[in-house]
Amino acid sequence: MAQKETKRILVTGAVGQIGSELTMALRDKYGAENVVATGRKTAPSKQLLESGPFEFIDVAKMETVEAVIDKYDIDTVYHMAAILSAVGEDKPWLCWDVNMNGLKNVLDVGVAKKLHRIFVPSSIAAFGPETPLNDTPNDTILKPKTMYGVTKVAGELLADYYVKRFGLDCRGVRYPGIISHETLPGGGTTDYAVAIYYEAVKQGKYECFVKEDTCLPMMYMPDAIKATIDLMEAPFENLKHYNDFNIAAMSFSVTELAASIAKYVPGFTCTYVPDSRQAIADSWPNSIDDTAAREEWGWAPAYDLDAMTQDMLAALRKKHEEGLLD
Ligand code: SER
Repeated sequence: MAQKETKRILVTGAVGQIGSELTMALRDKYGAENVVATGRKTAPSKQLLESGPFEFIDVAKMETVEAVIDKYDIDTVYHMAAILSAVGEDKPWLCWDVNMNGLKNVLDVGVAKKLHRIFVPSSIAAFGPETPLNDTPNDTILKPKTMYGVTKVAGELLADYYVKRFGLDCRGVRYPGIISHETLPGGGTTDYAVAIYYEAVKQGKYECFVKEDTCLPMMYMPDAIKATIDLMEAPFENLKHYNDFNIAAMSFSVTELAASIAKYVPGFTCTYVPDSRQAIADSWPNSIDDTAAREEWGWAPAYDLDAMTQDMLAALRKKHEEGLLD
């Protein structure tokens, strides 16, 4: 494997749901000036902009990726830029371009500049209707029906190829739906599990775009950040998988999610008007088996559904009182 240690980090997709909180966690850990946040076009938050370096790049354009890596002498990349599942169905070729050409550009720069390590995220969207629905194994049938899923499977395979063929150190997890209160997700299928908390605090009710018995694997953001950094710090020689680790925390139906919220928001009600995202949700597993992540790098989540609900509601109520949710 390439070199040494992580000193200067690039985060692509840093304005996104995971990227924004990951950037702040990395700035805490590695020093703010050593973590360069980048986005494609959405304006960064004040916090992101004022806490360290920020640049606009388009990961699908090699020259912009190369320029920022050279300018800041980057050795480690967290490649979070991606088009998610629902937008990917509206714009499949944009999804292909950003997710595949963007990834290949980052991997190619990784080889050319002998980068230390690259994080390559995948998703439960890598699975499909032929995949076992419950306790989905790490190594299983991957025949997704969305363009997002196609790019995630291809991305896992491509990144694994770079490990074997070029000795590039890249790793990644298959994120479940991620729930957070800092930055809203954009254009995914699991977005209902975030929106429901915002609407519970603002309105005491929510109209959900998938059916009540829809059950998907989910995770609270602090666990997602921990998984990301823990995997990036794991010794390479301990890994048998590289870019396709299942990570699990909790699985629940929308009915169970609404019941958890109703414990702390008396009178909360949820109604159901399924749209095209139902078919996407139905093609993903109910729950996944993360034994490989537990065994190879010690993965263990901290939050269950009720612990997450209490934390989410406390954070969103505070924002609501400060007038930040309108
Ligand atoms: N949260 C993503 C989506 O719904 C799944 O990776 O598209």
